[in-house]
Amino acid sequence: LTSESYPQVHRLDFGQVTPKTVDFFKSVVGDSAVITNEDDLLLYNEDQMRKYRGQSRVCVKPKNTQQVSEIVKYCNENKLALVPQGGNTGLVGGSVPVFDEIVLSLSSMDKVRSFDSTSGILKADAGLILENADNFLAENGYIFPLDLGAKGSCHIGGNVAANAGGLRLLRYGSLHGSVLGLEVVLPDGTIYDSMNALRKDNTGYDLKQLFIGSEGTLGVITGVSILCPSRPKAVNIAFLGLESYDAVQETFKRAKSELCEILSAFEFMDRQSQVQNKRFSKNTHPLAQDDPDVDVPEYPFYVLIETSGSSKEHDDAKLETFLESIMEEGIVSDGVVSQDETQLKALWNWREGISEASNMDGGVYKYDVSLPLPVMYDLIEVLRVRLDEHGLRSASDASKPVVDVVGYGHIGDGNLHVNVIVREYSKTVEKCLEPFVYQWVSDHHGSISAEHGLGFQKKNYVGYSKTDVEIALMKQIKHKFDPQGIMNPYNIIRPDPELELSE
Ligand code: FAD
Ligand code: MLT
Ligand code: ZN
Repeated sequence: LTSESYPQVHRLDFGQVTPKTVDFFKSVVGDSAVITNEDDLLLYNEDQMRKYRGQSRVCVKPKNTQQVSEIVKYCNENKLALVPQGGNTGLVGGSVPVFDEIVLSLSSMDKVRSFDSTSGILKADAGLILENADNFLAENGYIFPLDLGAKGSCHIGGNVAANAGGLRLLRYGSLHGSVLGLEVVLPDGTIYDSMNALRKDNTGYDLKQLFIGSEGTLGVITGVSILCPSRPKAVNIAFLGLESYDAVQETFKRAKSELCEILSAFEFMDRQSQVQNKRFSKNTHPLAQDDPDVDVPEYPFYVLIETSGSSKEHDDAKLETFLESIMEEGIVSDGVVSQDETQLKALWNWREGISEASNMDGGVYKYDVSLPLPVMYDLIEVLRVRLDEHGLRSASDASKPVVDVVGYGHIGDGNLHVNVIVREYSKTVEKCLEPFVYQWVSDHHGSISAEHGLGFQKKNYVGYSKTDVEIALMKQIKHKFDPQGIMNPYNIIRPDPELELSE
């Protein structure tokens, strides 16, 4: 294992990939859909943060559900471990192998299966890229109910497997609500199919929900049926500068009440995240357009508010009244409003760019947490003090491992992203942060993973967010679906048939 940030892990007792395995895969999917060349495999072995790297010797790219089923069945019969992989944009080390697990990539299953322009129900292969799905829907007057910075690479199946939250959960809700059905190849090769996509179906347990957020541990999602809303005809963005975190909370409260049904996103960013963005961006800061000598204005907090609706005049007037009132009352100090589509995109790009900019100095420790709003930003301040007390943080002194801690996120969803930007990964920094962050979040009644999942990174820390009874149930569910534990074996949870719930 190449990354120092890996905990001690041992390869479990799985079979080895042999030439016979590769021949079988080739007989199912064809020669060109089986990758065994070491250089080509790097793309599938390493995550996009370049923090986690496995040593898989084979990646197989089936073209249809039947092929997935044959591959998975063979793996189960031969006790071969495998990792389902979408766009490999996950941020918790769950999308790549840890040892030599087989990578099952969905990238060749990327077609729209059907779209009903009356109901807005899209049925598609799991490997369809999110941006392609949204572009297809745009042509039909609809929008995908999820948007996120990795849209150009991530798959809708990967989104479902991760239960991604993203930028518009505030408006469209979680995938647990919008996904109507799934097609999943279970670990023994059986095909589970609930793609019929009924909005209402109370005939017993809602089984598809188990796969949403299962992070590749219960089966391979091959098809997604999802309810898509009409595409808003009018979209506006306001980008604001604020003097305090209290002002951020007050602005959110006021936005909910005064923008009401047209509010579609409410994102917050601290100044440090803006400084980091600016270091790696040629673009002028959204609030420094009139003064190009200023890199980032002095406001400690920034907010991006998106409205979307069906009438431009109505939405413009509502947003204007809202902005006037919060500015007159001194809650917000400065702001710009997008004037056209280009500015709108530029403002979103600025917000979405924080993720990549945070990883440009050498590495980043990421914590994606849910917390009650009043204490949410305290975590960032507590971490800065803690790193300083340990002599680990300096933006200018290259001998210190930590550059800074930046805070931003989907405040409308109670979701904070904590990025500890480092010059290199180090055990000293990791030990200073973990399990401290998880304990702090647990003490403040939060969740150690709001939207990125547990993956490989946080699988040993689930106890900070789930009770023993919940963990025991999860292990039993895993055992029921995957008794040999072949599906993403170092992710989330191990099967355990012996566990009693009362333990
Ligand atoms: P992968 O990364 O390939 O896989 C993710 C997990 O799902 C893995 O455990 C994998 O085994 C499993 N998996 C993938 N496909 C399947 C399948 N077909 N069947 C079963 N299991 C599968 N996340 C958010 O929640 N909100 C954000 O705003 C957000 N923004 C991001 C911005 C950037 C720039 C980046 C790089 C990532 C961001 N993410 C965000 C992380 C995020 O989870 C994803 O980008 C996305 O949901 C993962 O999709 P993917 O296809 O890349 O899946
Ligand atoms: C975001 O909100 O930008 C994403 O969750 C990605 C990230 O935090 O890196
Ligand atoms: Zn996010």
